[in-house]
Parts: sequence; C-alpha cells; structure tokens
Amino acid sequence: MIISEYVRVLKARGWMKRNMPFLYSWHAYVGYELDLYEAFRKPKTVEEAAKELSLKEDLLERWVDVGLAIHYLKRTSKEQFKTARSFMLPSSKKDPRSTGVLLKEMMELHIPTLLSYPKLMQTKSKVKQTFDHQQHGPVVAETSALLEQVAYPKIAGLIKKNSMKKIIDAGCGHGGYLKRLSEVFPDLQMTGIELNDQVAKEAGSRCTSCSNIKVECADALSYQPQEKADCVMINNLLHYLSPETRIALFRQMALWLTEGGMISVITPIQHSRHGKQFSSVFNSFFAAFENLYPVPDEEELKIIADSAGMTITDFRPVVKEGGWYFLTMERIGD
Ligand SMILES: C[S@@+](CC[C@H](N)C(=O)[O-])C[C@H]1O[C@@H](n2cnc3c(N)ncnc32)[C@H](O)[C@@H]1O
Repeated sequence: MIISEYVRVLKARGWMKRNMPFLYSWHAYVGYELDLYEAFRKPKTVEEAAKELSLKEDLLERWVDVGLAIHYLKRTSKEQFKTARSFMLPSSKKDPRSTGVLLKEMMELHIPTLLSYPKLMQTKSKVKQTFDHQQHGPVVAETSALLEQVAYPKIAGLIKKNSMKKIIDAGCGHGGYLKRLSEVFPDLQMTGIELNDQVAKEAGSRCTSCSNIKVECADALSYQPQEKADCVMINNLLHYLSPETRIALFRQMALWLTEGGMISVITPIQHSRHGKQFSSVFNSFFAAFENLYPVPDEEELKIIADSAGMTITDFRPVVKEGGWYFLTMERIGD
C-alpha cells in the first residue's frame, strides 16, 4: 500500500473511533425515550418487549444488539435479555429526576442544531433559527437543575456567611435552588421570577409546601420588587440575554439590593481557564439562534459589574470540566 493510502485508512479509522462514544449516548437516549431499560429490568425476549411496548421487533433487536456490544444489556438465556449496569443508565422516563432529560436535550436540540451549521453558515441572509422558549422551556429548566447539587452549597454558604434575610432568584426555572434553600433556611424570604408561564407554574407547584417561597411569572427586565433583597441570584440565564440586555438587567438588579447586598451568578464562562471544550461548543449552539447569545467571558463580566456600579468579589469554578463558574458581585464602596 502506498503511504497516502495508508494514512487515509488510518484517518478513517481515527474518525470511526472518535465517534464511538456517540453509540453510548444514542443507546441511552433511545432507551430513555421508550423506557426500554425499564422494560428489560427483568429478563425478557425481544419479541415479548416489542409486543409489550408496540414496537418494531427488527429495530428493537438492533438496539438490543448494540446494548450487548456496549454492555448496557446482558443475555440471561439464549433468547432473553436484561438491563445491565442500571446504576449508570438514565432511570425511567416516569422519574422526574431522571438524567435522561439531558440526553433528550442533547439529542433533540443540541446535536441537530450543530449539524445545521454548514447550511446556517452558507446562508447569505442573516436569518438564524429561533429558539422556541415555550416548547423547550420545561426541558431546559430541568436539565439546568442537574447542576444544583454541586452549585447549591456555594449559594448556601454565601447566605449563611452574610446572614441574609431576603433573596430574589431571577430566572428561577423550576425553583430548585429556592426549594433546597428553604429546607435549610426556613426564615429566609425568597422570591423566584420566571418568564415562562409553564415553567413558573411548575415552580409554584413544586414550592407550595414552602411558605417562605413566592414564585412570580414576570420578566426580570421589567420587574420591580416590593422590598429590597440581600442577594439576587441569577443562575444559567445569561445566554438568554444579549450583551446590551445583560448590562441593563444587572443595572436593574443592583437597584433591588439592600445596602451591602450582592448579586450571585452561575454561568458557563467563555474562554475560561477550565472547560473550554464545553463552553465553546455550548456557544456554538447558542450562536445558531437569533434569540440566544454566547455566554460571556471574564472580561465581559467585569464590564457588566462595573456598569452596575459593582465589583466581582469571588470567582471560582463549580464544574471545572464544564467551564461553569460561580461569582459574586458587590457594590463598590459598600
Ligand atoms: C436555563 S433556565 C435556569 C433555571 C435555574 N435558574 C437554574 O439554574 O436551574 C433559565 C430560566 O430563565 C428564564 N428566563 C429567561 N429570560 C428571563 C427573563 N427575562 N426574566 C425571567 N426569567 C427568564 C427561562 O424561562 C428559564 O426557565
């Protein structure tokens, strides 16, 4: 074989191998969507499972084959199969806390958008895709909440250290942070502001048992609190706002604060020291939509803080590999 032919084969082999991890996500996505891991929780034949779930038997057989190859399924007899390693796999779709929702967002929203890049880039007109907040709002709010577990202690620490009495969560999603905080700080007065009515309704019903939480369906940009707060949280919201709107919102939020009050932010950071792969591809996704915006870099955050008369007083990673940071802003001179 001549050298160039050999290199060509090596390259092709390289791409095949690099694409291998996709197989695991694909299998888990299909398994979650159709609740197949649940169906195979007890040993079953393909025929039985196909009948039970009204699925095409030949395609289910292919999915089972892949599952065996990647050890997500195991054979228990000649004809029967069972879910293996279920601790790693997404739990049933019926479980509202299933990590399958992340696979759903990745496969149905992120990957198709990234695949539209050649077409989007070539289009002469400035037209991009439009992100449908009503359609995707609930899924995005749920996937965002997956970060709570790791980010929550930072916020709880801030509240405790500064003996805060009242906080506002701008873009509270399903109210997960508020609910967790309520369990530890029953006297903390909390208001969640959420633009999407469906998401706000869900937040309200998840927080009904917490008398110290109030959820309002409102636009943070025009919101006027009745009372000032010691802290305004803004978690995973910046990609919804253009750079100019970010400045307007932070100026506004600074007015909601008591003396010595703070703004706390959780967001992926562009060009961050950690997690560049993640934040860069996240930004590629956002940039494909005319109504989403790349996440800021550290420099832009300094400008935002400055224009709100504040300064960044803490800045540290929450999820290093994801480029996700936690930061606080305080008023200069307070
Ligand atoms: C990605 S979710 C994050 C939810 C939550 N903060 C978290 O970190 O888990 C962002 C939420 O902000 C809401 N949102 C977007 N723009 C908003 C605005 N101008 N005012 C209030 N909420 C807004 C969206 O509807 C969405 O539910």
